[in-house]
Amino acid sequence: MEEQDIVSSTEATSGAPGTSQGVIPAHLLRGQKALVTGANSGIGRATAVALGRAGADVVVNYVAGKDEAEKVVEEITGFGVRAAAYEADVSDEQQVVAMTDRMVREFGTIDILVANAGLQRDAPFTEMTLAQWQKVLDVNLTGQFLCAREATKEFLRRGVVPEVSRAAGKIICMSSVHQIIPWAGHVNYASSKGGVQMMMETLAQELAPKKIRVNAIAPGAIRTPINRSAWDTPEALEDLLRLIPYDRVGDPEDIGHAAVGLASDLMDYVVGTTLYVDGGMTLFPGFATGG
Ligand code: BGC
Repeated sequence: MEEQDIVSSTEATSGAPGTSQGVIPAHLLRGQKALVTGANSGIGRATAVALGRAGADVVVNYVAGKDEAEKVVEEITGFGVRAAAYEADVSDEQQVVAMTDRMVREFGTIDILVANAGLQRDAPFTEMTLAQWQKVLDVNLTGQFLCAREATKEFLRRGVVPEVSRAAGKIICMSSVHQIIPWAGHVNYASSKGGVQMMMETLAQELAPKKIRVNAIAPGAIRTPINRSAWDTPEALEDLLRLIPYDRVGDPEDIGHAAVGLASDLMDYVVGTTLYVDGGMTLFPGFATGG
């Protein structure tokens, strides 16, 4: 199953703390048009909702799970902004081009891209099939490349509109702590996220002179279906929390809040940075008591 599909579900996130209600200023992204891929569930869903709360109009991309996507749209339109669900497989060039063209036609432009869609296909190295390797690279890395490229064409066409934003466009790549933490049994996933880091930094360098800000968010363990087995039993949770100095599993809203900040002009001078939202997972927690 795809992260576009499984990384989050309302089921997994309902009742979770960290709701953005009352936290996000509703005018922060007013008038901006945001495209969030894989937004029918999990991190993508929470990010789309947070951007909507901040005043952006939002396109909720999904590849499967239309009903979930429509529910996200309904929630976002409840904030008094526009939203629509667009089906597209981010690893398919024609579908990505059709999706961004449609957004420009129906919403006028694209100001913010959150390239979130991704998936895991885990296997021990010698058992990993070429299909598993390829699928993860296609969606997690090539999918971000295609969406970023098409969004960038629109940013360049339109240029800076000062009343809307100081930047001509903002791209947020959804990476992972595994862009720097090697992960046995997940070589395809870790490689894809390592690729996302270098793609993001290269694009940031190439596009900054055009006033396009490219950054990434690297989530740690966030409570979504993609990693359910890591938190849904007391034993697994205990093991997981040993890797998280802040001593709680993240909520999808933690990532949504970070995305709103990075997309807004409050962070206009932030270019080519990875924001780790991981409760300290990347701080080598094993060394708290050793070394
Ligand atoms: C993965 C999760 C994992 C987390 C921390 C994420 O990128 O998708 O499955 O729990 O990293 O290891």
